[in-house]
Amino acid sequence: MFNEKPVALLIKEIIIENERVKTFVIDGEMDFKPGQFTMCWIPGFDEKPFGLVSRKKSEFMITVAAVGTSTKALHMMEVSDMLGFRGPFGSAFILPVSGSIALIAGGYGMASLFNLAKEAREKGIDVHVFLGARNKDELLYLDWMKELGAVLHLATDDGSEGYKGFNVQVFEDWVKNEGGPRGGIFTKVYTVGPEIMEMKIASICWEKSIPFEVSLERYMKCGFGICGQCCVDPVGWRMCVEGPVINGEKLKQITEFSKYHRTASGKIEKYPWNKDK
Ligand SMILES: Cc1cc2nc3c(=O)[nH]c(=O)nc-3n(C[C@H](O)[C@H](O)[C@H](O)COP(=O)(O)OP(=O)(O)OC[C@H]3O[C@@H](n4cnc5c(N)ncnc54)[C@H](O)[C@@H]3O)c2cc1C
Ligand code: FES
Repeated sequence: MFNEKPVALLIKEIIIENERVKTFVIDGEMDFKPGQFTMCWIPGFDEKPFGLVSRKKSEFMITVAAVGTSTKALHMMEVSDMLGFRGPFGSAFILPVSGSIALIAGGYGMASLFNLAKEAREKGIDVHVFLGARNKDELLYLDWMKELGAVLHLATDDGSEGYKGFNVQVFEDWVKNEGGPRGGIFTKVYTVGPEIMEMKIASICWEKSIPFEVSLERYMKCGFGICGQCCVDPVGWRMCVEGPVINGEKLKQITEFSKYHRTASGKIEKYPWNKDK
């Protein structure tokens, strides 16, 4: 299915992932490539972008963190309620032919990476997942990743599961120890999560010359290239068409990466770690 106009579909199941995150299983097909997103119309509120996930052809899912007005309204919805969907939109991740890949995710980032992991395993590619969260309840999709046979490297801020600290550190240590039992080399790296995490992964990959791709989120309105809301400086690429998946070489040209983004009104908003620069 590809739709430029919203199609009304039924919520088939709601999985409560943790206090802040729910997965909505949708009764309908969405023929997407890993890394692409949908624009979801929440009746009475707004239309918002979410990463696409699917475990079987007859249904797809979105995993949503309740952060503001629309996502909180979505969390109030129930099984059999209807949502509108457009898409799929945007660029997709590209897998290597063989080898071993690392997926580094924080927050709801695993949603955009799940189908990449699934496709990689189907092609016999080794998948290492470096998953980070505030605590063990917020580590998403653990059982699904285990079922796929991915190697899990977990990190939590409070140490309730895995390494106490950031998943970036676990990844960096693994890459540094490439000859050792707790280390290895990756054919390609993929990262989706908070931009500060993506920036640190990008720095490691540039330094070590490891090919990588990031998903770069920018405020989106139309989702398919006409409003210009999601253009990035100075190149003007639209993150809903040329992105959100961007490779490491192209990323070097996006000078706003990890420095600032634009709000709904187009105003530049510096990231907290870049405020005094
Ligand atoms: C390509 C892409 C994929 C995404 N995938 C997911 C996902 O899988 N799960 C998930 O929970 N969230 C995802 N998001 C973020 C999600 O779209 C926002 O959290 C959501 O729009 C917040 O809306 P709100 O009204 O609840 O919050 P608001 O209070 O309006 O905003 C809260 C935060 O979300 C950002 N945001 C708000 N509206 C948009 C918008 N239209 N486009 C981009 N950012 C916005 C704001 O900048 C702010 O930082 C994705 C965003 C993009 C661009
Ligand atoms: S959201 Fe309109 S051009 Fe990208």
